[in-house]
Amino acid sequence: MSILIDKDTILKYDKAGPRYTSYPTAPTWSDEVNESVYIEKLKSFGQTDKTLSLYIHIPFCQTLCTYCGCNVVIRPQKEKYGDVYLDHLIREMELIAKHIGTKKTVHQYHWGGGTPTFLTESQIERLFTKTQEYFTLSPTSEIAIEVDPRTTDKAKIRSLRRLGFNRISFGVQDFDANVQEKVNRIQPLDLVADVHAYCRELKFNSINFDLIYGLPGQTAKGFSETIKQVIDLRPDRIALYSYAHVPWLKKHQNKMNTADLPSADQKLDIFLLAREQFLQAGYQAIAMDHFALNDDELAKAFNHGELYRNFMGYTVQPADEYIGLGLTSIGFLENTFVHNIKVLPEYYKVLDEGKLPVERGKILTHDDTVRRWTINVLMCQFQLDKVNFQTIFGTSFDIYFENEQKHLKHCQEEGLLEEVGSTLKVTEIGKIFIRNICMGFDAYLQKKATPQQRFSRTI
Ligand SMILES: C[S@@+](CC[C@H](N)C(=O)[O-])C[C@H]1O[C@@H](n2cnc3c(N)ncnc32)[C@H](O)[C@@H]1O
Ligand code: SF4
Repeated sequence: MSILIDKDTILKYDKAGPRYTSYPTAPTWSDEVNESVYIEKLKSFGQTDKTLSLYIHIPFCQTLCTYCGCNVVIRPQKEKYGDVYLDHLIREMELIAKHIGTKKTVHQYHWGGGTPTFLTESQIERLFTKTQEYFTLSPTSEIAIEVDPRTTDKAKIRSLRRLGFNRISFGVQDFDANVQEKVNRIQPLDLVADVHAYCRELKFNSINFDLIYGLPGQTAKGFSETIKQVIDLRPDRIALYSYAHVPWLKKHQNKMNTADLPSADQKLDIFLLAREQFLQAGYQAIAMDHFALNDDELAKAFNHGELYRNFMGYTVQPADEYIGLGLTSIGFLENTFVHNIKVLPEYYKVLDEGKLPVERGKILTHDDTVRRWTINVLMCQFQLDKVNFQTIFGTSFDIYFENEQKHLKHCQEEGLLEEVGSTLKVTEIGKIFIRNICMGFDAYLQKKATPQQRFSRTI
């Protein structure tokens, strides 16, 4: 469906705002969560039959892409870096397993980064085998890895598949050589096409490409060429991320010439054209920034209102609890966010002392839980049934969100939301501005100073 949006609307909504991979968002977390709080949560989790998602962060990359907003550590591709990191990561895993006290089944197992394929084949095998010592991976578990095509070859992909990885995601971003040069990431189409074809041959359940719109030098025309090339390859899923420009957090983004960055309306044009191309090619728009082929399980889950979202992205297998291992990783356990240390030498030091590398986090209040649910439902399903809300929380949506009625009314007047019976539905235009809709439910944004210097812009 084509969407026509005027420039004024775009500029009105182009403000700083969270992406809501968590609520409450990370800037509100504090040192109220420390090692002893985490141990207590792990122990009580161990006594339940709740299910688990496990995330492993491998922070290393060989070179730095200048747009990168991830938590990365740049190192030359030498085995010793991975070895030392794995020694510590495995120590962390042992401590976590000891505190849980039972061998939990993992429904969703995800390696992200940085670049997990920075590790050699034998290091990958070492980490995977160790995980199975402490956790059970079931035959139906989602086992996913983020892969940089530039540090992956057929042998590595073959060993990933043999170990049990069944979902694979490639960082692609843009095939345009001019854009690639501007962001310090030279990655020819052939390279991606080869690894993609090989993954198809090995029958990964799902192959995802990450793309970014809003990069320096991008134009709607140029990016539409990339989208054509992506469509020809036909991955099952596409994550089409809006470039998050946060130079106050990621200083290296200053290396880019801001004059090369598309303006908010150019950026939206790039997105809308790409969106249209994917829809025309038989992809379905999924939640905020994803596309999937109709027979992909993500598309099916979205259609059935069974799509969920966490730090690892969208999933069809929601687990009750999440544990993150590794530098900067995030977990969510027993209503508590847990954030690991961000500096590598400190991460090593704390583990060398036999302690868990927890830095901060957030214990959710009841109000946090209610708002987290509301934001998640809007983000994943683009609609919210007030009756469902009442069933879950035992209180009327309109009474609970009395102070938010003005925002909701405004969203309806602006054509972002509509009310059908007891259901709030996000309109086609509203889907593009979903972050802005959700910001109205964010109690911390309402209370606090401007989010200007903490979040990227919503477009
Ligand atoms: C950990 S990387 C993926 C694996 C590997 N490091 C790579 O780049 O091929 C995760 C994804 O985050 C996205 N990303 C990184 N920095 C971003 C930014 N500033 N704004 C939006 N998306 C970003 C990219 O699409 C990237 O593929
Ligand atoms: S985009 Fe991927 S490869 Fe590039 S620096 Fe970030 S994490 Fe590393």
